[in-house]
Amino acid sequence: MRKFEEIAETLVDLIKQGKLKAGDRLPSHRDLAYDYKCSVGTASRAYGELERRGYTYGKVGQGTFIYGTEADEAAIGKGVFFPRESWVDGQRGIVNLSKNSYYHKDTDARMRDAFLRLSMGNEPTQYLEYFDSRGRPRDRVIAASWIGKQIEKVDPENIIITQGAQPGLYTAMATLANPGDVVATEAFGYPGIRAAAYELDLRLTPIAMDNFGLIPEEFEAICKRGSVKLLVTMPTGHNPTGTTQPLERRLEILEIARAHNVLIVEDAVYAPLQDVFPPAYIDLDPERALYITSLSKVFSPGLRVGYIVAPPNLVPRLATKVTAINWMTSAITLDMSNFFLQGGIVDAQAVDLVKTCWRRERRAIDILAPWIAHVHHAKRSPLPHLWVELPADQNMAEFVASARRENIVIIAGDSFAMSKTVSVNHIRVCLMSEPDEQRLEKALKRLATLLAEQTSPVMVI
Ligand SMILES: Cc1ncc(COP(=O)(O)O)c(C=O)c1O
Repeated sequence: MRKFEEIAETLVDLIKQGKLKAGDRLPSHRDLAYDYKCSVGTASRAYGELERRGYTYGKVGQGTFIYGTEADEAAIGKGVFFPRESWVDGQRGIVNLSKNSYYHKDTDARMRDAFLRLSMGNEPTQYLEYFDSRGRPRDRVIAASWIGKQIEKVDPENIIITQGAQPGLYTAMATLANPGDVVATEAFGYPGIRAAAYELDLRLTPIAMDNFGLIPEEFEAICKRGSVKLLVTMPTGHNPTGTTQPLERRLEILEIARAHNVLIVEDAVYAPLQDVFPPAYIDLDPERALYITSLSKVFSPGLRVGYIVAPPNLVPRLATKVTAINWMTSAITLDMSNFFLQGGIVDAQAVDLVKTCWRRERRAIDILAPWIAHVHHAKRSPLPHLWVELPADQNMAEFVASARRENIVIIAGDSFAMSKTVSVNHIRVCLMSEPDEQRLEKALKRLATLLAEQTSPVMVI
């Protein structure tokens, strides 16, 4: 065995024994050479060997790191980590309150009907071609008329169709920021933003929040400290905190973004389910903001159809990025979604879901009231999830584990923290994915009992 292979083998042993853990940074090439009494070239070859065998990865300017399991990935702030149960629906006895998907009793039948109609009405040959990465002109016209119910003026030419809001966010971040750039975002948020920033080597900077979303002064302070490229924000029905930025706050944030030349990426994935909300950033400043939404919440996350609406000058770059990543969204999926959009099926489903969501949210707030810090005053639309504060003497991971022992799956708040420096003692409870409302109510009551039990005074003897 050559020297570099010997070193690689020793390091693999250390990984297998758990002495080197996921996320650990290995010594520099020079230090490794010193430790193993070899040349820097040999140390580099050893690291090359480890990377080739899939144990490590290099980050530009930062070093060589150990890959890990899914949980480890989440622990180092990289992954979009959800409990295993989140992906397995219908397990007997389990009530899954970890996922923000919206159950509707008719979606199955609607899908079946659409498959049948498409297979009868279309020649398979029409699905054999490449087309414009943004989507075909017809797809964008149909999308514009639907998105036009959420924002004011939408030109189909400024729409880029993506395979969901997550690829939309990734595409926007990859196109509008370069490795090492600062991207500001709410201190808590959807973990997909953190995962995208990590993969793109962007420096995600958390902005402190209050009951009305991100705090403008905090955003301004971050802008003054360094060059912020992008603000990625969720101003309406924020996931997980439930906050909505009122109009005055949006205007303040916009003013700061203008002063520091920051582009705004608005994640509006829940917008199709809002009754009324203040204007989107793209309506307030069409040159400065992108609007990203999808059919995931209002119809099905399995469909994988989302939309970016962008200022015209950014459209070609965003479209090129989409080509580089996945060329385009499949015409089969697009024909399905066009059918749902044009037939009014998405709108009808939205009306039902909003009604259900109001009912479930009110009930959940009744049950969990003592642990909800603020009940989203001035908000006009229902939330699919609650952000529940645990009493100070309770530990999130332990609470999640005790809920799991009761067959209830929830997620601890730290999964939503955009940086390890953000302190949190919450759980997120999703209200819309459980089909059966009685089961949901029972699970919520069980959670309330657990919360109360754990906070009851302890007798010390
Ligand atoms: C805030 C937020 N943005 C984006 C997404 C991803 O949506 P999509 O399924 O359209 O990729 C989610 C999914 O839960 C989300 O909660």
